[in-house]
Amino acid sequence: MDYPLESGNWDLVAPSPLPYQAESQTPREMNRADMDRIRDEFLRSANFANQAGFDMLELHMAHGYLLSSFISPLTNLRKDEFGGPIGNRLRYPLEVFRAVREVWPQEKPMSIRISATDWAPGGLSEEDLLALARAFKDAGVDLIDVSTGQVVPHQKPVYGRMYQTPFADKIRNEIGLATMAVGNVTSADQVNTIVVSGRADLVALARAHLADPYFTLHAAAWYQHPGQFWPKPYLPGRDQAYRLAVRDREEWTAGRQATKPPSHEVKEEQYQQQSGGGPGKRPLEVLPGAVPPG
Ligand SMILES: Cc1cc2nc3c(=O)[nH]c(=O)nc-3n(C[C@H](O)[C@H](O)[C@H](O)COP(=O)(O)O)c2cc1C
Repeated sequence: MDYPLESGNWDLVAPSPLPYQAESQTPREMNRADMDRIRDEFLRSANFANQAGFDMLELHMAHGYLLSSFISPLTNLRKDEFGGPIGNRLRYPLEVFRAVREVWPQEKPMSIRISATDWAPGGLSEEDLLALARAFKDAGVDLIDVSTGQVVPHQKPVYGRMYQTPFADKIRNEIGLATMAVGNVTSADQVNTIVVSGRADLVALARAHLADPYFTLHAAAWYQHPGQFWPKPYLPGRDQAYRLAVRDREEWTAGRQATKPPSHEVKEEQYQQQSGGGPGKRPLEVLPGAVPPG
């Protein structure tokens, strides 16, 4: 999907005339007139979104899209007041944000999506990231949706379970701004752990919902959450799902208990006995059933 079509490609503009990869079109460097026109197109879209009844608006400035390419030093090589230090690179994204915030109803929340790292040398630094979060907090953003990468093709992401959550955690707890964690979060248990441990305020799932479109209904049944909305045509399935979930959870808990490894806790009295009562000597054996060290 990152490759150009054989013909009929749109003309591109960008902060700097850099093709995404060798085969890509080379964009034209944006001038002030382009910036005004595109800012106004964002405003038009925000108005349409409001008319269509959306409750929340997210301004995309991640993954190498236009505003993202202003933010990253790898894609913004401008020499004017829109390039250079992070304060300059944030200038146009902030201008668009402020303009959209102005037309988006004050009572409706607005977020931005960012790439918190480019996963590439010379990319967005940690200081840049914190400066970005601070600047958008001051500009009145309600939430930052914290993704990473997809800014340059030579990125080297470090994938793993919940791999982008540390960035959401950092922004939330260092800047004091609500965050949404995304990326390889696959279970309701992980979602709850992220929220309860204060690493993010919201969690969004993509692929987990493609594999199981009823992920949320299943999670609500598992936790016996009474407030879950069920579409009317699905309601006849709700009570059965909740009943079956109780049984599944009991079976799961019993299975966990049965396969639980023996405790490695060393009781004081046993320690004294095995170490000959003296300090500093490790017992060779701990509790019955435990594997001795070595
Ligand atoms: C089919 C598909 C399409 C996606 N399209 C976009 C997109 O257009 N813009 C975007 O920012 N993220 C997009 N994403 C990324 C998701 O928003 C999400 O951040 C990512 O999939 C990681 O979360 P996950 O592990 O829950 O899937 C897409 C993901 C999938 C699976």
